[in-house]
Amino acid sequence: MRIYIADDYEQMSVKAALIVAGQITMKADSILGLCTGSTPIGMYKELVKMHRQQGLDFSQVITFNLDEYWGLSPENDQSYHYFMHENFFNHVNVKPNNIHIPNGLAEDINDECKRYEEAIRQANGLDLQVLGIGRNGHIGFNEPATEFIGETHLVELDTDTINANARFFASRAEVPTQAITMGIKTIMQAKKILLLANGEGKAQAIKEAVTGEVNPSVPASILQLHPDCTFLVDKAAAKYL
Ligand code: GLP
Repeated sequence: MRIYIADDYEQMSVKAALIVAGQITMKADSILGLCTGSTPIGMYKELVKMHRQQGLDFSQVITFNLDEYWGLSPENDQSYHYFMHENFFNHVNVKPNNIHIPNGLAEDINDECKRYEEAIRQANGLDLQVLGIGRNGHIGFNEPATEFIGETHLVELDTDTINANARFFASRAEVPTQAITMGIKTIMQAKKILLLANGEGKAQAIKEAVTGEVNPSVPASILQLHPDCTFLVDKAAAKYL
């Protein structure tokens, strides 16, 4: 695992965008695993800037998002569908057919999880997965647990996660309690992983993920076993390293 400590959020975001841009430059038809949350917003802004100002081309890129709330329609402004279009897809030239996000309204959850997993397999797996991290060490929506769950699945969200994400909703009661997430195996099979974290609120999770034992109680700790994983964090998130 490589660790890069950026001075601040700005520098972290620029560097993250350069890594993604480098991936696309090396392989125009890259399969990107993408994440949501407040952390990657700066990276998406930089990528949009690179597209507009330098012609960074996403026309052959295929994307798979990590997760989606269960029960939210794509039009709901708290859905990850909405987030991704608002913050990224509407501003670059990724082809709509190349965008994949789990369907939070699928009638059969098991079918939807299998379909998503199969779509990633058909695409030959992820070239680069970008991750954020929850304050409880979650990646995607793989919450702390007693075992690592391999493939895309439905998950009950932790109280901590519901509380943390309530800031985006009108009230806590509106936060969905379940989500579809890529599993740990799906994530670990990505050829490269880039995890972003900023702010002191993530410092404990980063410490446990980087220096703690590999344990499903801190899902991000599994990344220690990935052959090509970079943690790109700001100074505040690196406080305990
Ligand atoms: C959500 C997402 C994660 C994300 C996490 C951190 O729970 N499912 O993929 O990493 O939030 O969010 P933030 O970047 O807003 O702290």
